[in-house]
Amino acid sequence: MKNYFCKENRCVVLFLLVLGYSCQPKEKAIGLLAENAIVVSAHPLASKVGKDIIQEGGNAVDAAIAVQMALAVVYPQAGNIGGGGFMVIRESEGQYHSLDYREKAPLAASRDMYIDENGDALPEKSQNGHLASGVPGSVDGMVKAHEKLGSMEWAKLINPAIRLAEEGFALSENEAAYFTRASENLKKYSSVDPIQFTGKAWKAGDVFKQVQLANTLKLIRDKGRAGFYSGEVADYIIAEMERGGGIISLEDLEKYESTWREPLTGSYKDFNIITMGPPSSGGLIILQMLGIMENDQVSNQGESYAEYLHLKTEMERRIFADRAAFMADSDFYPVPVDELLDDSYLSQRFSNFDPQKATPSDLIMEGKILSMSEETTHFSIVDKEGNAVSCTTTLNGGMGSKVMVDGAGFLLNNEMDDFSIKPGFPNMFGVLGGEANKIEPEKRMLSSMTPTIIEKNNELFMVVGTPGGSTIPTSVFQVVVNVIEFGMGMQEAINEKRFHSQWKPDQISFEKDFERENILESLRNKGHELSERNGIGRVDAILVLEDGIMEGGADPRGMDAASGY
Ligand code: DON
Repeated sequence: MKNYFCKENRCVVLFLLVLGYSCQPKEKAIGLLAENAIVVSAHPLASKVGKDIIQEGGNAVDAAIAVQMALAVVYPQAGNIGGGGFMVIRESEGQYHSLDYREKAPLAASRDMYIDENGDALPEKSQNGHLASGVPGSVDGMVKAHEKLGSMEWAKLINPAIRLAEEGFALSENEAAYFTRASENLKKYSSVDPIQFTGKAWKAGDVFKQVQLANTLKLIRDKGRAGFYSGEVADYIIAEMERGGGIISLEDLEKYESTWREPLTGSYKDFNIITMGPPSSGGLIILQMLGIMENDQVSNQGESYAEYLHLKTEMERRIFADRAAFMADSDFYPVPVDELLDDSYLSQRFSNFDPQKATPSDLIMEGKILSMSEETTHFSIVDKEGNAVSCTTTLNGGMGSKVMVDGAGFLLNNEMDDFSIKPGFPNMFGVLGGEANKIEPEKRMLSSMTPTIIEKNNELFMVVGTPGGSTIPTSVFQVVVNVIEFGMGMQEAINEKRFHSQWKPDQISFEKDFERENILESLRNKGHELSERNGIGRVDAILVLEDGIMEGGADPRGMDAASGY
């Protein structure tokens, strides 16, 4: 008799083994665990600078200033002194602050400055070269942060960045490739060849030094605000503008002020959300999304995950339509913050939600307000007293305007593209805008940056944020939901594949290598168009675990790293 049994039995055993293997829970990713303090940023050297500052007795704000400056050296594609950002702070006793050091439109800017004589938009001018830059805010921001909440001597916070610029640092293979690729654009748009970047084809292990930048940082260290907005560095900026046809003037630099704003706050179940209000749209977007979702049960198990992603997409398309119509710099435009977050507004806004079917974006208009009343970088810090800083800072696109200020050795932003350069014309992240976000002198361009701090039962729970243009609020939302609703740890929540949609274009983008094909199929069946893309965002975040230990999650999509003790 043929031994069918044995053969079949072997198959059964093999099948059970395979089943057993695939049913085994994937090993849970765990980030850096630390008892005292954690700094998570886009670069290991910058994270270490921040951790050292705290170990030397500085607080989270001191560390944030040192990290911002260090990133300007080791992560020049986004870390900056020529750009701007937002910082959300929660002191250990529960006081909140938010600092707006977003760039401003120069005094000579005007609504139609990126429209040609035929009425066509000129994105090349709003995205590259001298005309693309807003007046930088980072240095004034760091000075203001230090004046109000810093505890260490200012010079000690700038010295680590000076050292990194002067002594240089060894490039990884990816950094070497990135700088080599970027050099053509830097040559093209800078008025003087920035040879510190373009002088050679970089390879792994090369030591990258920035002598001019070190000198600029020394002036900032010794003179504070005056070391950047007047004197030698200001003169370099103005000379650069004159050579390259830019419009930032000495008066713009002298007048620039960062500003403390009331943080935007809201609640979701047992959690308080402390985030950035206008001129960012990011905080409003996540509070609107959490507000709509508060009464829903969501799950990432089986088919329920497709239901959640459908819900998320339908929220996003309505809210990004609101973003285009109502969100802007509130110093210039009456952003209806309370109305946009009002429960009855949100439920009316979502009343045509169909759990079975995608709503075509063309059918979505902004809501009815009843009474009108990819380069960025994020870092998260908690110090040993429990003070927390969530900070997102940017030049906008990778290497900003690609203009290196000759003599001063730093890159200028291309943030002007975040204005609506022509009504209905998408910015570099494909988001639309209109009248609210039109260009006006000294106005801040609308942002999506979402530095956020979350409390659980009034205690510090999470510090979170990411770069990623218009995907920022939706990435922050997903990571928060992964933790709060799906029970993930910090690293696990960050590693999870992400999805994004934003009203127009009418599609869901999802990260490549997402393995649950049935979920994609369910979304297609509901009428969603899907498009695969590379990494969405780089979330760097910290979670306070039940036992008070913190977990720092650094995004594996970049070379991000946590440092702590
Ligand atoms: O403020 C904003 O929303 C944009 N300038 C952010 C740009 C960004 O995140 C690019 N990074 N990937």
